[in-house]
Amino acid sequence: MSANRETGKRTLVVESPCEARFLGRTLGEQLEGGEVILMAGSLGAGKTTMVQGIAVGLGIHEPVKSPSFVLERIYRGRLVLHHFDFYRLSQEEVIESGLLYDIEDSAVIAIEWPERAGEALPGWTLKINIEFHEVCLDPGQEKSMDKRKVTLESTTARWVKVIENIWKDRNENS
Ligand SMILES: Nc1ncnc2c1ncn2[C@@H]1O[C@H](COP(=O)(O)OP(=O)(O)OP(=O)(O)O)[C@@H](O)[C@H]1O
Ligand SMILES: [Mg+2]
Repeated sequence: MSANRETGKRTLVVESPCEARFLGRTLGEQLEGGEVILMAGSLGAGKTTMVQGIAVGLGIHEPVKSPSFVLERIYRGRLVLHHFDFYRLSQEEVIESGLLYDIEDSAVIAIEWPERAGEALPGWTLKINIEFHEVCLDPGQEKSMDKRKVTLESTTARWVKVIENIWKDRNENS
C-alpha cells in the first residue's frame, strides 16, 4: 500500500479481482444516492470489476456486465445504478446521445471512460483511477497480472472522510 498525503486522495494496492470487488462493495454500501463516480483506467484495468462490487454494496443482485456495447445498463437495488461506458463515443456523441440527461437525482451514476465525455460530464463525487501495478524485482522477472493501484479521489467532504476511513482500516488491518 502506498500513500498520497493530499487530502481526499489515496492510493491502495488491490491484489485481485476479488479484493477489487470487496473495495467496490465497501464504497457502494456508503452511497446515499446522487453520487457520480468516474471510473478511469486503461483497457482491462478493472473498472467494470469495481462497479460489480459497488452494485453489491447497493444491494443489486443481478450480475453486472460491461456496458461497453450497449453504452448504458441500469440496475435496481436499494438505489438505482446507471452504469455507462463511453469508450466508443466522442464528447459530441455523448452529448447527442442524451444519455446523461433526465437521470433521477436519487440514482447513482458510474461512468467508465469518463474522459471520452469531456465537458458533457456532470459534476463528479468520486473519481476512481485504476492502474496496472507491475511488480518486478529483477529485470526479466514475471510481472504480477492481478495487482492494481487504485486511487480514490474526492473533494466532497463526506467522501473525503469515506476515503480516509478506508485508508485507516486498511492500515490497521495490514
Ligand atoms: N486487481 C484487479 N482488479 C480488478 N480487475 C482485475 C484485477 N486483477 C485482474 N482483474 C481482471 O481484469 C479483467 C478486466 O477487468 P474489467 O473488465 O473490469 O476491466 P475494465 O477496466 O472494465 O475493461 P474495459 O476498459 O474493457 O471496460 C477481468 O478479467 C478481471 O477479473
Ligand atoms: Mg469495463
